Amino acid sequence: MARIILTLVFSTLFYLTTAIPSPELVDRASITTLSSDTVDSYKPYAFYSSTAYCSPESIMNWDCGENCNANPHFRPNKTGGDGIRAPFWYMGYDSILNTIIISHHGAAPGEMQKSLHLESNGSNRLSSLNIAGSNFTTLFKPLFDGAPDDIRVHANISTTQLFTASDIFLEWEYAAADERPTITFVDHSSGAALSLLDAVYFALQFPYITDLSPPWTKVKFVGYGLPRVGNQAFADFVDEHITVVDDGKGFVRINNMKDPVPINPSRALGYVHPSGEIHIQASGEWDTCPGQDNPDSQCIRGAVQNDANGNKPDNYCPYDGVMMGC
Ligand SMILES: *[C@@H]1O[C@H](CO)[C@@H](O)[C@H](O)[C@H]1NC(C)=O
Ligand SMILES: *[C@@H]1O[C@H](CO)[C@@H](O)[C@H](O)[C@H]1NC(C)=O
Ligand SMILES: *[C@@H]1O[C@H](CO)[C@@H](O)[C@H](O)[C@H]1NC(C)=O
Ligand SMILES: *[C@@H]1O[C@H](CO)[C@@H](O)[C@H](O)[C@H]1NC(C)=O
Repeated sequence: MARIILTLVFSTLFYLTTAIPSPELVDRASITTLSSDTVDSYKPYAFYSSTAYCSPESIMNWDCGENCNANPHFRPNKTGGDGIRAPFWYMGYDSILNTIIISHHGAAPGEMQKSLHLESNGSNRLSSLNIAGSNFTTLFKPLFDGAPDDIRVHANISTTQLFTASDIFLEWEYAAADERPTITFVDHSSGAALSLLDAVYFALQFPYITDLSPPWTKVKFVGYGLPRVGNQAFADFVDEHITVVDDGKGFVRINNMKDPVPINPSRALGYVHPSGEIHIQASGEWDTCPGQDNPDSQCIRGAVQNDANGNKPDNYCPYDGVMMGC
């Protein structure tokens, strides 16, 4: 019943807003350093990303240790996935940020407890992104109806995302039924790649966002060490439908120092990042890097020219002192 009502609300909303063109992206000219207050404002999201590495049981009980304690007011509502073929995910409500948080466990299936060790000194994550799975595929039409036909995404990430996408969509409206807040996908590394496809899937359900749209139609994304997920058309779609939320801050990807994950899969293969990069320098300074794949040496593409030039542990920490993992 709730779904039917929701569908009616959407139909009305679309009817009222179809005449409004999509807003233009603001062209931010140069690299700027974020204030410490702005840096601090991301800290809860870093802990939520890190929480996704904890067991579903400890997340539902909200007793997962440091990660849970950092956001004590969080109300977990649902976990899913099987940890084998479908990575675990969780969702719940943050009353301070007034948003539903949705996050995926990022590691290779079956590697939940070991992921940190395997990947901080091994090559597990990069190889799964780059070799077997870097072929492009089209978006799965039944879920991504309305997306431009020229979008191509990472085949392996797409297949994995489809295992849980509809479960997550069926659950979100119950996670904070009374508050009806915004939805924020928050995630780390390959989990962030899954979350970005989820965010696009959600955004397609609410395609005509304006200042007057209700908060629950606004989909946002905060990713840490996000790899590239799709082609130019994909990056443009993210910018037009997610980055524009909150005055251009709807999509944020935070990259740490010389992490090689965000430069994979390569641009040579046709992969492009959406805008919204924040790059953490060795000095600890957080800089905004305007545009898609900014080549400046203060941004990840310029700082890490190739994998050999990168430092894998940078994928995990520190993000304003937070280390990813449970
Ligand atoms: C999830 O949210 C719904 C709607 O607010 C609520 O009825 C349900 O009890 C919540 N589940 C948990 C585990 O808190
Ligand atoms: C990676 O780290 C784990 C845990 O610290 C250790 O047992 C393993 O031997 C290391 N592997 C390599 C290849 O260094
Ligand atoms: C993704 O790639 C990994 C590593 O090559 C492989 O083990 C896994 O089966 C692939 N997953 C899917 C869903 O294709
Ligand atoms: C990826 O593309 C290559 C080259 O076109 C092809 O040989 C290979 O079979 C493809 N892999 C998958 C998993 O589709």
